[in-house]
Amino acid sequence: MKQQKVEKSKYLHLRGQKKPKSHIIAVGGGKGGVGKSFVSSSLALFLSQMGYKTILIDLDIGAANLHTYLGLNTPENGINQFLSTPHMKLMQSKMDTNFKNLELISCASDALETPCLSESGRSRLMSSIYNLEADYVILDLSAGTQTSTLDFFLMATQHIVVFTPEPVSVENTYRFIKSAFYRRIKRFEFQLNLESEISMIMGKKDEYGVRTPGDLIHYLCKHNPEKGSELEKLMSQFKINIILNQGRSQKDLELAPSLESVCRKYFGISCELLGQVEYDNAVWQSLRRRKHLLVDCPTSRLYTQLMSISRTLTKPHHRKAVV
Ligand SMILES: Nc1ncnc2c1ncn2[C@@H]1O[C@H](COP(=O)(O)OP(=O)(O)OP(=O)(O)O)[C@@H](O)[C@H]1O
Ligand SMILES: [Mg+2]
Repeated sequence: MKQQKVEKSKYLHLRGQKKPKSHIIAVGGGKGGVGKSFVSSSLALFLSQMGYKTILIDLDIGAANLHTYLGLNTPENGINQFLSTPHMKLMQSKMDTNFKNLELISCASDALETPCLSESGRSRLMSSIYNLEADYVILDLSAGTQTSTLDFFLMATQHIVVFTPEPVSVENTYRFIKSAFYRRIKRFEFQLNLESEISMIMGKKDEYGVRTPGDLIHYLCKHNPEKGSELEKLMSQFKINIILNQGRSQKDLELAPSLESVCRKYFGISCELLGQVEYDNAVWQSLRRRKHLLVDCPTSRLYTQLMSISRTLTKPHHRKAVV
């Protein structure tokens, strides 16, 4: 009984225990440097310009740089203070930006060492994010498939994966989506009491013919139809949006349909291309002037591309919250 209680609390932060008070957009990706921070700051600028109250959160603990994208100095207060001060509210670490309707919660710090994000710290941070009152909260994630990154990705109501046309980025994108899918299963297997069954199947994958995450769901549907189909339904509500960044040719766009079809075929989930953002040297040249490209160079083609992506995100079928 005691053991069960411990287990329950362990997964509390994975189960979306509360309904978020705002639309939460997570921007993640399997690889570093693909443009997650550039894209999340661009979406935040457009959404706030459209009149939506927007909070941008830098969750790249240890390598935060969103403040630079917004032309701000290293903030004095942020997630680090929130995590190390027990009764502090996350709202207290919000800071104004030079843009109307846009606030930033940073985790940049001058400290030489970044503390590890404990499980309880993660839970507290996640429920505080759910409590933020805004129209949109945008989470800029760190690269890779660490469990905390996956949990922040999964807690959102809209999930965006940024990738570039390079083979390594495409490979890491598959890995990221697969890891997020399995992490989401973890969250529901506890709820549906399927933990031991799933761990038994995964322990003998070859014997049961389970090669892909989709195979696992099919196997469960066949051998435990009631819970299997419930899990299938919960998993099919998971939708991924992809953005191809730093594209250099129209041909790069051909990568998107294959990602979309892998998601459908092997995971049984929908993956939709939100759009392509071209490569433009002006992105880093503007940054050097400590300005965001959208402010410094509004005639760039990227302006129109990112505006169109932001508009798509606000359409009702994208805003439908599924946590
Ligand atoms: N479309 C683009 N065209 C040209 N340069 C770009 C583009 N998008 C991003 N960059 C540049 O690529 C670099 C990495 O971008 P960014 O910091 O957004 O990546 P990231 O995925 O957030 O990286 P990290 O994983 O380290 O957080 C930056 O120097 C940025 O200016
Ligand atoms: Mg980044």
